[in-house]
Amino acid sequence: MSFDLNNLLRENIKNLVPYSSARDEFKGEASVYLDANENSYGSPLPEPYNRYPDPLQALVKEKLSKIKGVPPRNIFVGNGSDEAIDILFRAFCRPGTDNVIIVPPTYGMYEVSANINDVRLKRVKLTEDYQLDLEGIAEAIDPNTRLIFICSPNNPTGNSINREDIETVIANFDGIVVIDEAYINYSRQKTFIRELTEYANLVVIQTLSKAWGLAGLRVGMAFASEEIIEVFNKVKPPYNMNDASQRLASKALDNIEQVNHWIREAVTAREKVARELTAFPFVLKVYPSDANFILVKTTDAKEIYQHLVKSGIIVRDRSKIALCEGSLRITIGTPAENEQLIKALATFNNG
Ligand SMILES: Cc1ncc(COP(=O)(O)O)c(C=O)c1O
Repeated sequence: MSFDLNNLLRENIKNLVPYSSARDEFKGEASVYLDANENSYGSPLPEPYNRYPDPLQALVKEKLSKIKGVPPRNIFVGNGSDEAIDILFRAFCRPGTDNVIIVPPTYGMYEVSANINDVRLKRVKLTEDYQLDLEGIAEAIDPNTRLIFICSPNNPTGNSINREDIETVIANFDGIVVIDEAYINYSRQKTFIRELTEYANLVVIQTLSKAWGLAGLRVGMAFASEEIIEVFNKVKPPYNMNDASQRLASKALDNIEQVNHWIREAVTAREKVARELTAFPFVLKVYPSDANFILVKTTDAKEIYQHLVKSGIIVRDRSKIALCEGSLRITIGTPAENEQLIKALATFNNG
């Protein structure tokens, strides 16, 4: 297989002259900034929010670089990882012409982003045990296939996808393979970030919304070759991550011990909740999870969902999704919340 980024890029993106912001054009330190039509008098808040943020988020990337072991030039930071997903469509997929492959049941935004961008979706269902159908993927690839999305650990099933299978897909595809590792911190499987130097056609997506506990700040990352990251930077809005998020994310990234502690707690709680769920007669299967949620196949998903709502507990009903029939997706809560869940389920009477 031969990967050539230039062949993949849409012609308009190849020729695009990106917006050049005031902060792009002058990068040094000055005492008087009269170049960006900001409010020179100040901000009504203690922080200097009257100034535009760093367009390339140098401090956030420096901290991520240390934690992830990836140089800043291989990191894109966006307004949630959903921004990275959308940019991939806009940069590489010609609307009405190109297509992408998804492997359902999987995260819903790949499909929504494809629809927004008028890009055809090819669905190659996962196997019964939620692994890749390699033959199906190979058959689905055509000359206009630009991206293949693989979510591992997968949402909503919770399992990791076999590493060798992912490697097979990367090695046999001329387009870009996107591995969405939103839940990687909870997984027994290693990240694919280490393979970036080996595969030019790999994009790894991660987020601070899950294990890092910062969903409200909207910080997502894409890790890829320098060439691909340059494309992201060319296409993104000039100030795609606001200054409050940059400041707070930079501060939070100093607190990895707290995050690692929570990850250990969540993994222990996950195993406990899984064991407890198995005991209920209306639970047909508790799927193995490498994430901070569990997919549970039940006899009566809708009724159990409603019963939990009445107890003030909201889970996600995934029972209408192919291969997830009868299933609820349950996020791991605090020990007290998990106990509340199990108690509420114990009062469910499906007789
Ligand atoms: C697999 C997966 N990828 C990406 C995201 C989006 O994350 P973010 O909050 O970074 O946009 C989610 C959120 O639920 C997810 O489950």
